[in-house]
Amino acid sequence: MRIVLIGPPGAGKGTQARILTERLSVPAVSSGDLLRAEIREGTVLGQLAKQHTDAGELVPDEVTTTMVTRRLGEPDAVGGFLLDGFPRTVRQAALLEESLAEGETTLDAVLAFDMPDDEIVQRLTGRRICPGCGTTVHVVFSPPRVPGRCDACGNELTRRADDTEETVLRRLAVYAEQTVPLLRWYADRGLLLRVDAMGTVPEISDRVCAALALTT
Ligand code: AP5
Ligand code: ZN
Repeated sequence: MRIVLIGPPGAGKGTQARILTERLSVPAVSSGDLLRAEIREGTVLGQLAKQHTDAGELVPDEVTTTMVTRRLGEPDAVGGFLLDGFPRTVRQAALLEESLAEGETTLDAVLAFDMPDDEIVQRLTGRRICPGCGTTVHVVFSPPRVPGRCDACGNELTRRADDTEETVLRRLAVYAEQTVPLLRWYADRGLLLRVDAMGTVPEISDRVCAALALTT
């Protein structure tokens, strides 16, 4: 299956993508993770991206599209993929559609996660990530056994540079301005499935499976 996950920052796209990727045996491709890898490696693309991500603004469409479509061309993504955080603008969606059409494929579904802003601020300001193994926790909702340490590998947990309250509020505004119009664009194509993203991780996972008509 070829699936896109759309939703405001912190709605749980990455958390659900990690569950769904096992279930569907397709790779989860996160544009945010790809950009953060470029930033860590100090590439030219990473240096450009950092200015935008740190400010909570979008990285230019052509840059993200080239990066993501290159990743989708790798052998493990040929039979299907889960896209987390891409596309984020109508322009990116149109470029993705063109690129898939060249390979004579289309998307199967677009899952849109709905979540109120106040919950988002709480989720993101409390998020911590393990730089060693990528585990994501929340200081209140899913705290690690030893405060500040990854349960899986013991590394010190870190906070994403764009998870400060000020930048989260900017990311929410950017989502409303630049990504929300994409929901109508996909609804017009008959692809949009809306999911209430409030609740526990398993509850949301069940809703995602129901929306995709996957038997649990
Ligand atoms: P990106 O990395 O895509 O970030 P985002 O969309 O803001 O989403 P997040 O990763 O912050 O949240 P999530 O929905 O995955 O939530 P998570 O599962 O972690 O993008 C970052 C930046 O990169 C952008 O601002 C932009 O600059 C740039 N960028 C990326 N893609 C781009 C594109 N296509 N075009 C242009 N620029 C682009 O969950 C959040 C927290 O909540 C965690 O702590 C988790 O443990 C907890 N949690 C999850 N589910 C639950 C639950 N059910 N109950 C309680 N807690 C929960
Ligand atoms: Zn770890």
